[in-house]
Amino acid sequence: MNASIKRRYRPLNEDTYQEYQALCELASKGIWRQRYHIQPPAGLLNDPNGFVFHQDYYYLCYQWFPLGAEHGLKYWRMLKSDNLATWQDQGIFLSPDHLYDSHGAYSGSALSMGDSILIAYTGNHRDENWVRTPYQITVKRFADGELSEKKPFWNEAPQGYTEHVRDPKIWQENDGSLGMVLGAQRENLTGSALYLESHDGEHWKLKGDIDFGLPHFGYMWECPDYFALNGTDVFTFCPQGLPADGEKQKNLYQCGYVVGHFDKALCRFEHSGFRELDYGFEFYASQSALDSEGRRVMVGWLGLPDITVVSKDEGWAHCLSLPRVLSLKNGELLQTPHPDLQRLRYSRPHNGIHFELLLDNPENEPFVFYLRQKDEIRTRIEFDGKALYFDRSQSGALPANEKEVEGKGGHIRVYETKALWHLQIFADTSSLELFINDGQATMSGRIFPPADANQLSLQHGAGATLTIFSLHED
Ligand code: FRU
Repeated sequence: MNASIKRRYRPLNEDTYQEYQALCELASKGIWRQRYHIQPPAGLLNDPNGFVFHQDYYYLCYQWFPLGAEHGLKYWRMLKSDNLATWQDQGIFLSPDHLYDSHGAYSGSALSMGDSILIAYTGNHRDENWVRTPYQITVKRFADGELSEKKPFWNEAPQGYTEHVRDPKIWQENDGSLGMVLGAQRENLTGSALYLESHDGEHWKLKGDIDFGLPHFGYMWECPDYFALNGTDVFTFCPQGLPADGEKQKNLYQCGYVVGHFDKALCRFEHSGFRELDYGFEFYASQSALDSEGRRVMVGWLGLPDITVVSKDEGWAHCLSLPRVLSLKNGELLQTPHPDLQRLRYSRPHNGIHFELLLDNPENEPFVFYLRQKDEIRTRIEFDGKALYFDRSQSGALPANEKEVEGKGGHIRVYETKALWHLQIFADTSSLELFINDGQATMSGRIFPPADANQLSLQHGAGATLTIFSLHED
């Protein structure tokens, strides 16, 4: 085992705690720390996990490696709140402390079941030769916060699949039975999703490899999610290995969805084709839950596997997206900012860094916005009647792909649309999230400008109106 792996697979314990505290200290002074996004105190954050509304509270965890801004031994760190905008950190929720999850408590989901929460996740185990075995595990969280014993229901990948089987997402059917989808890689190195059923949450039966009519669609599907919206089925997932397609699929990895009908008896999902969930730079591993009003809400990771961000030098990396309410229109998903986010608004002048900008553009006039500007540093958001451009090529320090893949990369993203009647932008210290035409599309990305790049230049037509809210009290 080389030194880097050894370092990255050390647990957080008495021996490493001081090092962790030093990293937290470093991160707390960072100039790219977010103000209202979920971010790690130090170390690396990735997928949202175990998102659930249970007995008046939301619980949301994330994949977390505490001892460096890189991928390593993963924990689940938890946040709790009575709303979806302001969170209280609850510390570690799941630790990789068993044989089955010895090399990481990997991604999974949660379900409110009466008094307790049922959690399903993947335990990542490696032997002394670094050979991986994925365990699929359930555990219960009781009302007093105690956890039941971790119980693996699969001790290996099923026949016909490689060691890449992970990220269970569970749900409950109307008849009380439980369903699960799991991301998988077939032995022929194609991605797929498995469908499982259970009557008690402990024993799970494999119903099959869901037939999407996409036998060769990437080499691995990570983080699947399944839910229905007004009787129509939606499946979201992260197929790895899709080629770039013009201005689409230009990120190193994709996160997208299909809409249609999931025939569970036949294990077949009829749909109208794959679409990306976000047209920006970083959005991955999304997970959804129902909110207190029964709305379907999705949160994603504003990061991607195999990229590096410059906040690494501050001892931390990545954050979660804002929660988005999902609905369907003409067979496509609409994503709108969750109404709880209005709690973040302050009635005082904004500081040019932490704000929410709303543009009403009823006459479809072109516009050019330069955000986070100082001298030659700026981020361009432009509509020219053909497309909306999110250009971070001059934003400052840029996220970097660790892998060269043909057609992937670049720092301008283009969302083709002839009509742009509404744009809503959430700006935090080091991220922008754009909601286009009342949820028709989103574009998200990280930016790392200098701390004093706070000028805005907003040029729009006479028929347009602009509103800006401060999202921070300074
Ligand atoms: C996606 C992912 C998951 C896995 C987790 C490990 O980003 O690779 O498939 O469970 O991250 O941290």
